[in-house]
Amino acid sequence: MAWLRGGKAHCANPPNPPPGAPWRLVLLGAPGVGKGTQADLLCSRLGACHLSTGDILRAAACTDCERTPALEAALASMKAGALVSDETILELVGERGRCLRCCGGFVLDGFPRTVAQAEALSRFLEREGVALDVVFSYELPIEEIVSRLAGRRVCPKCKAVYHTVMQPPTRPGICDACGTALLQREDDKPETIRTRMRVYEESTLPLLAWYAERGLLIQVPAFGTPEQIYVRTWTCGRTAPDAFRPKSPRGAAPAVGGGAHALSARRP
Ligand code: AP5
Repeated sequence: MAWLRGGKAHCANPPNPPPGAPWRLVLLGAPGVGKGTQADLLCSRLGACHLSTGDILRAAACTDCERTPALEAALASMKAGALVSDETILELVGERGRCLRCCGGFVLDGFPRTVAQAEALSRFLEREGVALDVVFSYELPIEEIVSRLAGRRVCPKCKAVYHTVMQPPTRPGICDACGTALLQREDDKPETIRTRMRVYEESTLPLLAWYAERGLLIQVPAFGTPEQIYVRTWTCGRTAPDAFRPKSPRGAAPAVGGGAHALSARRP
């Protein structure tokens, strides 16, 4: 919550320090590939914090506080499917250094999205005296991604995410967790989805080479159920060369079987 509320906010419910070193992960992948879904699974099992720049921006849009010109510009970019300026994003992340050095670790979802942001993240982490363990990039053909986005419904109150076909709520259109009517995200309209995919290819795909050069990248095919992808995330890590191998997830033994998968994933 401190991440969502601002740099000066304190975490209402700080995690207990984990028994070993905390996990510090970045999740990359096209819009709608399932990063948020995997981030929730990883965080609930690793005891880390889910840090999503998209969530911060959407939370800022819902608060009653005065909207600065920078926030107005950011929300207009989101609505159009474009990236928010690096300057605004780096200001948001830069003031949350406390979250980056959280004893529970973190899973960054949606940040960094440009090489300039990755360079800045590396400086922020150095300043906080911490380092990334691994960068997972989720890969799926574009038709599947578009169908995931078109069917996504979100709860405006508790932020739970559903899919009309693949992860439907018990009562159609109603959040299982809090009973609120579900909504379609403004940027999940077909024409905006096309823009987001183009922006991803132009601005975010180059990050894969950037992280691969630094020995941090592991590509994960994102087909199957969320649980299967979660298992594959760690399987891919184990089949990676030693330098890429992540620590075993503590208390997070995969719940279902998942075969070993090659690291050469299809590009979205
Ligand atoms: P952001 O909120 O980060 O959105 P995104 O990256 O476009 O990703 P999404 O949240 O759309 O998808 P996801 O990959 O998390 O998929 P999900 O798990 O929900 O950013 C929004 C906007 O904010 C950007 O466009 C930009 O304007 C701005 N922004 C944010 N960060 C920025 C930055 N750093 N720099 C500049 N601008 C920034 O899953 C999708 C659907 O599929 C759901 O319905 C889910 O239930 C379903 N699903 C998930 N997994 C599966 C599965 N295995 N099988 C079937 N269905 C599945």
